[in-house]
Amino acid sequence: MINKIAVIGAGTMGHGIAQVAAMAEYHVALYDIQQDFVDRGLESIRKNLAKGVEKGKVAPEVMDTSINRITGTTDLAAAAHQAQLVIEAIPERLELKTDLFGKLEELCDEGCIFGSNTSSLSIAKIAASTKRPDKFIGMHFFNPVHIMKLLEIVVAPETSDATLAAIKEVGSKLGKDCIVVKDFPGFATSRLGVCLGLEAIRMVEQGVASAEDIDKAMTLGYAHPMGPLKLTDLVGLDVRLNIADYLHNELGSEVFNAPQLMRQMVEEGKLGKKSGQGFYKWD
Ligand SMILES: NC(=O)c1ccc[n+]([C@@H]2O[C@H](COP(=O)([O-])OP(=O)(O)OC[C@H]3O[C@@H](n4cnc5c(N)ncnc54)[C@H](O)[C@@H]3O)[C@@H](O)[C@H]2O)c1
Repeated sequence: MINKIAVIGAGTMGHGIAQVAAMAEYHVALYDIQQDFVDRGLESIRKNLAKGVEKGKVAPEVMDTSINRITGTTDLAAAAHQAQLVIEAIPERLELKTDLFGKLEELCDEGCIFGSNTSSLSIAKIAASTKRPDKFIGMHFFNPVHIMKLLEIVVAPETSDATLAAIKEVGSKLGKDCIVVKDFPGFATSRLGVCLGLEAIRMVEQGVASAEDIDKAMTLGYAHPMGPLKLTDLVGLDVRLNIADYLHNELGSEVFNAPQLMRQMVEEGKLGKKSGQGFYKWD
């Protein structure tokens, strides 16, 4: 039975995962490497919940009880202590994730399930840093986590049926619709979504149309709720560039060869919404 969830990484995804877990009445430890990152994550949760209360979507008492269920920490052992599930949401770099799970292997109870929110990396490769590949699974949430309904569950060859069943149950308690996907680079969502985003950036680079008009083509012409460039801004250009490089390497398809414009924007710190500037200007 899962009562306590440790969320590792309090950034864009981690704070959202911590929020929905607390709202689903799990006890949550929210860990990051620095106190100001933890504080920023907690502040974002407060803001999300306050907005929910303002719009009448969250009861005021749910806001308070949810916040009280989350403990922010920079102590990994404290976060791991008595957790039945760990959800990792740290940057999309294999060596960072394997290093973290190597440490968690020593700190967590034997029965604890390990979930990774990776957008594209091999679950089996991350799981190889632990002694529990049967209890290792991909839990791919979407941004913003408290709004997006999908949970893409990624099963590696050694993931057990019991682990899958437990995570499906957590997913439904969090109010998510779950899909189950095999451990292939980019899974179902990132492989298709990044492909569209990269092509849209190539079109900006080639001067085909403005970012606004390319996005409009997909929202009005294809009924996508958001255009591929705005979505890239929301996800973060750096996050998407990491995924593109990984998929290019793993799948060998030129479709995933990141455009020069994208590399240049990342180098210039134009990362999208989180930095205030991407294909759009953000407040
Ligand atoms: N941004 C998205 O829209 C999105 C969507 C789905 C999945 N993802 C995936 O989620 C993961 C996190 O992405 P994000 O956008 O939240 O990144 P982010 O940069 O917003 O947050 C990452 C957080 O991890 C922390 N961190 C770095 N190294 C750490 C370590 N060793 N231990 C603990 N914390 C550490 C950072 O301080 C930061 O607060 C990535 O794997 C990404 O691919 C992102």
